Amino acid sequence: MTTEKLLGHTRLFLMQGDITRQNVDAIVNAANSSLMGGGGVDGAIHRAGGPTILEECKQIRAMHGQCAPGEAVITGGGNLNARFVIHTVGPIWHGGSTNENIILANAYRNSLDLALQYEVRTISFPSISTGAYGYPLEQAAEIALTTVIEFCQNIAEQQLLDEVRFILFDQFTQSTYKAALQKLSNEDMP
Ligand code: APR
Repeated sequence: MTTEKLLGHTRLFLMQGDITRQNVDAIVNAANSSLMGGGGVDGAIHRAGGPTILEECKQIRAMHGQCAPGEAVITGGGNLNARFVIHTVGPIWHGGSTNENIILANAYRNSLDLALQYEVRTISFPSISTGAYGYPLEQAAEIALTTVIEFCQNIAEQQLLDEVRFILFDQFTQSTYKAALQKLSNEDMP
């Protein structure tokens, strides 16, 4: 069941699915600072995208070093339908006392800033940091949606972004994001 909300010019979608199968300009990877791949979304994207993505990540590492938590870098999409993969590093949850909330918001915002630099008009996010990195799902969903909503409202006049999709891997994650969106919107979502 897809949930949709209009944010100025941009349509926000909450959908259950596999982010590697998205037909959008860019998909966002929940990477780690090494950019050398891993499990979860990271593993799925490198598997589906093929070796060119890792090669580009190695070049980025050689030029700029590790990707700090909250930062984002961009590569081509390799074998994926997406033109680009934006690799961002979410915070590892340590109980909430090491600015995890700020770092998580930065990961979404920096990914969107980078997307606009590359004239991306449709982008898909996973639920960053709520898997291996252990971020409490409800709190992460509120931060993710608040950050995306604010970003889209700030650019509404320029009409730069057509779609932002959250691709949620399981029903529980999707329903948690839907509840968070309802809470933020003060309205019932279909
Ligand atoms: N499509 C969409 N969502 C997915 C997919 C997929 N193919 N695979 C996993 N997910 C979901 C998980 O169920 C979780 O809800 O993505 C969310 C984020 O989980 P992780 O991939 O574990 O990402 P994160 O919690 O940010 O941890 C990142 O894990 O894989 C390693 O290299 C990665 O070290 C990094 C860490």
